[in-house]
Amino acid sequence: MQLNINDRPQKVAPADPEMPLLWILREQLGLTGTKYGCGAGICGACTVHVDGAPLRSCVTPAAALAGRRITTIEGLAAAAPKHGAALQQAWIEHQVPQCGYCQSGMLMAAAALLASTSRPTDEQIDAAITNLCRCGTYPRVKAAIKRAAGMAT
Ligand code: FES
Repeated sequence: MQLNINDRPQKVAPADPEMPLLWILREQLGLTGTKYGCGAGICGACTVHVDGAPLRSCVTPAAALAGRRITTIEGLAAAAPKHGAALQQAWIEHQVPQCGYCQSGMLMAAAALLASTSRPTDEQIDAAITNLCRCGTYPRVKAAIKRAAGMAT
């Protein structure tokens, strides 16, 4: 099976037809920036983009994504040069991460939000960023998204 990951064709071999994309990314392709969190599509640590929209890769069979454009945190800067770079800079300025485990997913969700909503309100951020952070970085995530929105416009 061939997948388009970070704008490169990748031949992959799921062990079974239901194997989630996350396992392909981490175990077969070594793209370990995408994290395993809850395994139930809830926490968002495994968030990637499929055709620009955020998607929980731990509950999505890779086989369902043939022909779609998959972007991981490793490819974010290239796939979203405007917002990706601004978000990464804002994340550093606001020192967003604590342990950092959730942050790849947070950045992917934030990039998808800014791609569709260039100046999100607090309510729009709350609605779009459903990712969980056990370290409680939510206020800094929100501030960094607003900072990135200001830099990119
Ligand atoms: Fe630790 Fe979010 S920074 S879980």
